[in-house]
Amino acid sequence: MVKRNLTSTSLDTLVSLAKRRGFVFQSSEIYGGLSSVWDYGPVGVELKRNVKDTWWKSMVRERDDVVGIDASILMHPDVWAASGHLESFSDPLVECQDCHKRFRQDQVEADACPNCEGQFGEPRQFNLMFKTFMGPVEDETSTVYMRPETAQAMFVNFENVQTTSRKKIPFGIAQIGKSFRNEITPGNFTFRTREFEQMEMEFFCEPGSDEEWHQYWMNFSLNWFKDHGIRGEKLMLRVHEADELPHYSKASADVEYEFPWGWGELETISNRTDYDLKAHAKKSGKDLSYFDDQKKQRYVPFVVEPAMGADRSALAFLADAYDEEGEGKQQRTVLRFHPDIAPFHIAILPLSRNEKLTPTARRVYDILRPHFNTQYDDSQSIGRRYRRQDEIGTPLCVTVDFETVEDDDAVTIRNRDSMDQVRVPVENLESAIRDQLNKMRVDSQG
Ligand code: GAP
Repeated sequence: MVKRNLTSTSLDTLVSLAKRRGFVFQSSEIYGGLSSVWDYGPVGVELKRNVKDTWWKSMVRERDDVVGIDASILMHPDVWAASGHLESFSDPLVECQDCHKRFRQDQVEADACPNCEGQFGEPRQFNLMFKTFMGPVEDETSTVYMRPETAQAMFVNFENVQTTSRKKIPFGIAQIGKSFRNEITPGNFTFRTREFEQMEMEFFCEPGSDEEWHQYWMNFSLNWFKDHGIRGEKLMLRVHEADELPHYSKASADVEYEFPWGWGELETISNRTDYDLKAHAKKSGKDLSYFDDQKKQRYVPFVVEPAMGADRSALAFLADAYDEEGEGKQQRTVLRFHPDIAPFHIAILPLSRNEKLTPTARRVYDILRPHFNTQYDDSQSIGRRYRRQDEIGTPLCVTVDFETVEDDDAVTIRNRDSMDQVRVPVENLESAIRDQLNKMRVDSQG
């Protein structure tokens, strides 16, 4: 396991590193920013893409029993009537009668307004779905909603996917995509925002097998984070109390991570029963039952759903990877990402920007680029470039020096965590890097 010095860091430190190194910027910053909306920069986009690709690989490509879809954000308004979102997808809102600030009732501790100590009015339910209009007429009949979860597309496409993929139950449908919620109190950087990405999977199973599958997917979810580098002691599975279950759920549990401000949800694994398929069958008039041709039985499948946030997970990977070590001039900040999550695998660093070194360094770059996500950097001193790569969590740096060019056609590989350096002939470089990355994959499991 990778030795870390820090158990945690502050949110301010993460936000400032994220900005400085191109992970995350505030949206529309030159106009003063849009509150709680964030843009991923050149490094952050790689991090988030790796989180999504790694999930997709584990969830879809490496399994026989899950297929993917990519559905539209806008759906028929009846979807949200049937699913219960129009009626129940709301939070209790209280408004201060003096300063008119609004808060989620369950997030204010006292009876008085935290902004001005004023009195709150009566609480009311606030629906979290964003509305817009479809077509040129803006009225009730043209109202559509920005989906607040990706899940409903899997339910309404159940029959299309089942018949075209010829999957037999139990099987799942996965999707990664944007969702929107008009949160009353977003915050904590990218943790709670109004526009975010979800990675969800609806697993259709025979009624009666649902509790076993629920257990299976809870274990799978917790292990997925550990296998990709999050420390086990920073993760927990929290089972929902009856009064906090979402309207569609018979049982739910959250995978939580200990963020700098405390424990927060990364993923909810719910037993959605046959709630959604039955609701859509009723509203649409379409039979969404399944015929089990081995058992010669027809039933409406139950659904177990692991539902994860891509942005929250990326934030947890960032927070968990953050470490500092050394003192004085030797001090460095290092992000100890698992190699599959790290924004870049390798940085090619010629010792200096020198015309003798550049052709060889570019040749090495061209050799590695097809196989690894590789950066090339020849600006500033080599020490500063190592620090920069440490701060974005690049597992391996490859240095090209004068000996490489004049003598041995070998390069130095420097390991991010141990800072050990080994010299490797260019002809063996690809396999040497694969070996080191594989070792780092094993070492960084949580
Ligand atoms: N289909 C079920 C569902 O959407 P959820 O617990 O409401 O369940 C699943 O959402 C995941 O989506 C959460 O665990 C979280 O990671 C992410 N998520 C939800 N609301 C979010 C928000 N406002 N900002 C960022 N991520 C959010």
